[in-house]
Amino acid sequence: MNIACIGAGYIGSVTGASLSMMGHRCTIIDIDPAKVDAINAGQSPIYEPGLQSLIQEQAGSRLFASTSYQSVYEADVVFIGVGTPSLEDGSADLSFIRTATARVANHLNPDHFTVIVIKSTVPVGTSEEVTSILEQISGLESGEHFAVASNPEFLREGHALEDVFFPDRIVVGALDDRAKEMLRELYAEFMRPDILETISLRLGIREGQVMAPPVYFETDLRSAEMIKYASNAFLAVKISYINEIARMCEAVEANVLEVAYGMGLDSRIGNQFLQVSSGWSGSCFPKDTAELLIASQKHGQELSIVKAAIESNYRMHLYIVDKVLDKLGSLHNRRIGILGLTFKPDTDDTRHTQAAVLIRRFIECGASLQVHDPKGMENFCQTNGELPVTYCHSGELVAEQADAIVLVTHWLEYKDLDWGHMHKRMKNPYVLDTRNFLDSVEIRKLGFNYEGLGWIADKGEQDASRPTLSHVV
Ligand code: UDX
Repeated sequence: MNIACIGAGYIGSVTGASLSMMGHRCTIIDIDPAKVDAINAGQSPIYEPGLQSLIQEQAGSRLFASTSYQSVYEADVVFIGVGTPSLEDGSADLSFIRTATARVANHLNPDHFTVIVIKSTVPVGTSEEVTSILEQISGLESGEHFAVASNPEFLREGHALEDVFFPDRIVVGALDDRAKEMLRELYAEFMRPDILETISLRLGIREGQVMAPPVYFETDLRSAEMIKYASNAFLAVKISYINEIARMCEAVEANVLEVAYGMGLDSRIGNQFLQVSSGWSGSCFPKDTAELLIASQKHGQELSIVKAAIESNYRMHLYIVDKVLDKLGSLHNRRIGILGLTFKPDTDDTRHTQAAVLIRRFIECGASLQVHDPKGMENFCQTNGELPVTYCHSGELVAEQADAIVLVTHWLEYKDLDWGHMHKRMKNPYVLDTRNFLDSVEIRKLGFNYEGLGWIADKGEQDASRPTLSHVV
């Protein structure tokens, strides 16, 4: 098929690159010429594992990029994957969606049926608004010349290709039969175990695993839009819940690692999204929970659980600073080293990262900060330019004369830092590992005063061991 993807961000770039790998001709359209030039030169406009080599392979043969909407005229399917950031009141800003829709409308081909698919996360009812914008501007008729569908994207940053090729489900909201048929055809290959196996070998993802095709779920437009919000908010609630259990575990001297493991053995609960952290953050959960909450309030059906999860999450951020304060007595003139500025590893995305909240709070309390991130320092500096922090070229340097190190993001390479050397460089060898990620036994052997979250390290080595299947008798 001929595909156009509007937006060269996480959704558009990954969608365009992966559909071109499936044999379709894709044009990614973006207003930013730098991103367009990068794609045409075979470069990924974002950092996402595996994407660079995929774009390099496809660019110029089946994958193209442009600032012009001309390719919409030829397209069978147009994916809209532009940003829907938060407005000041928390509701979703649909201005990029509206602008992109208007430009699509100007390039629709009256002699060719086009499916316009909304992949961005948009409030319930947006697909209908998009349909009426398209009709008004193009003068064409929905159902006759084009149709709008909702196909929410569930990819996680850092695992985007894995999630696009091996999702649990593909959700398609559509009312028009022709649109449904075309999307079924487009996604047919994502449902074939033999093709999935080939992709797995080519990308080195899920090798040797049984290739279970995703569930292909067709529903109405509004329900599809709601599925995305309801799913993201549910996951946010789940993390907030385990983080509260972690705080409770510390208070009653239980071990949250054991507790989460024991909970996850119940298939109704599941073992995912029970990893304790300084709180969820990033470009999706904060904006999606905020929009869902405000929409529920507008409809007189306040989602009090989502509201509580948002508040609990903010408390979790501050809890980290309080723990360091408790340990050091005062934060005034103390040097704090921060490992990790992105909201999770394997991404350079620093939008709404918890690191910014923690750092701001540390600064308010009089501390000075030396920070490091393997991929996110440039973006963090751009989005948080006002924060007076020292950027360090290596993770080891955050230890220099530091009174505490807080590991915020569990980048794999932080396990391999020269912790022995860092111990010697610190004024006070205290490490707070907010992801329960480091080998606590080894770190403590080096002489560190190590704390994780949700369990008491001082109570003996057995508390530091991870629950494993060998615990199951
Ligand atoms: C999320 C959804 O998972 C994805 O389906 C949707 O399309 C976009 O939003 P993403 O924002 O990339 O994806 O990150 P995700 O992996 O879900 O993590 C979100 C935040 O929760 C991160 O800060 C992460 O570190 C944190 N998290 C996640 C935890 O603290 N504990 C967990 O157990 C899981």
